[in-house]
Amino acid sequence: MELPYILSERSITSEAPSNIAFIKYWGALDFERVIPHNPSLSMTLTSCRSVCSATFFEGETGSDEVLLVSDEGGAPAPPQFSERILAHLDRLRAGVGKEGRFRIATRNTFPAAAGIASSASGFTALSLAAGRALGLDPSADELSALAQSSGSGSASRSAYGGYVRWPGSDTDAAEQVADEDHWPLCDLVAIVETQAKKVSSLEGHRRATSSPYFQHRLELLPERLAAATEAIERRDFAQLGPVIEEEAIDLHLVAMSSQPPVFYWGPGTMEVLAAVRDLREDGVAAFSTMDAGANVHVICEPDNAAVVEARLHSLQSVERVLVDRVGEGPVWRPGAEL
Ligand code: DP6
Repeated sequence: MELPYILSERSITSEAPSNIAFIKYWGALDFERVIPHNPSLSMTLTSCRSVCSATFFEGETGSDEVLLVSDEGGAPAPPQFSERILAHLDRLRAGVGKEGRFRIATRNTFPAAAGIASSASGFTALSLAAGRALGLDPSADELSALAQSSGSGSASRSAYGGYVRWPGSDTDAAEQVADEDHWPLCDLVAIVETQAKKVSSLEGHRRATSSPYFQHRLELLPERLAAATEAIERRDFAQLGPVIEEEAIDLHLVAMSSQPPVFYWGPGTMEVLAAVRDLREDGVAAFSTMDAGANVHVICEPDNAAVVEARLHSLQSVERVLVDRVGEGPVWRPGAEL
């Protein structure tokens, strides 16, 4: 879709992928600087992406504009959405010491509130388009650090394609473990709820350390991260699958036992988890993972994708299935076509 009202020689359009965490970021040592308690590991997605167009009017005064674009056209972003974007634009502008105003238009290629990490793809796309419009030429590492400074830790991993680790402690940037051609894993997202989650990830991170199981999960993580990384390196799904499912259950165990408790799962989540266990009993290697939401990402190898998709479609609580797979990192181009 063309947006004539932002079309300008100075416009930059970027596209950035979302990602699904295999080892999750949950709980922060420092929320200001986005320092997690533990390293995380994710797979970059292909179809679930954010597209962002940025135009910088250097030297001009006035407020930044943020438009949300959908199939129906562009509309000003509601305050709860634009607040984080405006704060990030201030941060980027201050970082290069330039004055001026931005026009931003952004859209997601996946349905809103489908439980896909739209802040990871959204802040990476925004950092790339706005950074470029400011004259920056960020490397993947620099983009990772820029995106993460938005406050969305998972965004640090969307700067790279393939399989990505965010150490979190001694460096700002994430790093690629293997590229998108290394192992063609699929992610079938079973959508069981489409309304926005009641407790934000940020609030979930804040409450996490109050769980009596938080510390125990941290103790298990080094071994889990090593096993998952090794499994990716060796393309060993029999090793990877149980690790990611166990990890997702543990994250939700911590969330549900936090003070006050956070229940992201719904009845549909349970139905999908049971169906995935049934698939395994039928000899189909598929494993579940969930981020901070009710929808379930079912991970499998390409040979099993069709049978997994058909089983998910047959479930009463599954409204739709998004079929995705591992993909490449962000890209940008001049112009403002969304
Ligand atoms: C459960 O602080 O990155 O998805 O800013 O809302 O994207 P958003 O959340 P963020 O926390 C992500 C939490 C998680 C696990 C993960 O992606 O590592």
